[in-house]
Amino acid sequence: MKTILYKIEDSDDDNHAVELASELLKAGDVVAIPTETVYGLAADGLNEKACEKIFRVKGRPSDNPIILHISTLDQLDELVLEVNERAKKLIDKFWPGPLTIIFNKSDIVPDIVTAKGTTVAIRMPSNVIARRVIEKTGRPLAAPSANLSGLPSPTNAEDVLKDFDGKIPFIIDGGECIIGIESTVIDVTKEIPIILRPGLFTLEEIKKVLPETQIDSGVLTDKEAVKSPGQKYKHYAPEADLFVYTGNVENRIEEINKLVAKKTKNGKKVAVLCFRENLDKIKGAFSVLDLGSIEDPLEMAKLIFKRLRDCDDLGVDEILCEGVEEQGLGIALMNRLRKASGGKVKNRRPDRKSVV
Ligand code: TXA
Ligand code: MG
Repeated sequence: MKTILYKIEDSDDDNHAVELASELLKAGDVVAIPTETVYGLAADGLNEKACEKIFRVKGRPSDNPIILHISTLDQLDELVLEVNERAKKLIDKFWPGPLTIIFNKSDIVPDIVTAKGTTVAIRMPSNVIARRVIEKTGRPLAAPSANLSGLPSPTNAEDVLKDFDGKIPFIIDGGECIIGIESTVIDVTKEIPIILRPGLFTLEEIKKVLPETQIDSGVLTDKEAVKSPGQKYKHYAPEADLFVYTGNVENRIEEINKLVAKKTKNGKKVAVLCFRENLDKIKGAFSVLDLGSIEDPLEMAKLIFKRLRDCDDLGVDEILCEGVEEQGLGIALMNRLRKASGGKVKNRRPDRKSVV
């Protein structure tokens, strides 16, 4: 199969790409589209066979459900049993945007989408191209992140092409994703809302709307979060071995430099991912890549998956990466890094023993 990558230079001039994508989607094909978070691997969410193709090309385990994307609120009613008050408040405040809400599903949602579960995840993206494709197709679009299962999510069309060249017919290139990490996933089917996957919208922001909200314990550890099935698999992982260092900045940079020297001496090709302010402090690494400013976690969110993929492109054996404080957006960033590293997060504080 030949994969067409269609670049949209100007979002006002994208009718042809949207037209082609929606024709393919209506015919039951899988198409990659940009969203504001990461690229999605989309199919008609009410067409079981089309959704099966997503699982097949992505190599996704069938017990990991996928998100349905809608462009208008009218589309919601037929997909869910009810929109309770908690969901209504979240929708008012956060849609369209990077928030996925879990509802009790209606009968028209195919089992494959929900992994045979009774709930369905729904999100209304804000990205204009994604919205036009959904609108033109006239169906909710099932779309997981457009990476091969287990790899870092793609934040640009070239990274999608690397994973799916020859495997899907069409990719819309809408440029870099503005957020860079996946949506916050929240379950509001029970009295206490639970954040199953942290994202750009933080616990603090969601609590302003739903004060009882809690964060699933699996989010903060590298243990498996059973409630969001996707969290239990290896995720976001580059080919190279990843180690993450948090805590006091001077101490962690010193530790990283020591390890670079040791590992390099042992013949390893080592890349360091660090904040812009620390780039000059890293010595002797094969490659040093910028994670944005230490002052701006939004920049890190936008860059993190791209940088993990860059390291694999460089062919390094190991990646040493700076982490952040686990508060605000830092919770989502450390969740991704903890999973990407398989839990290899080291805390360097002057007063504490380091733990791996
Ligand atoms: O930002 C995003 O959410 C991106 C873009 C493309 O929209 N999509 C995305 O999809 O990240 P995916 O499949 O890579 O991650 C969806 C997550 C998984 O952890 C999955 O287990 C969880 O949402 N999920 C889906 N349906 C669920 C359900 N019914 N109950 C609990 N968790 C669910
Ligand atoms: Mg994913």
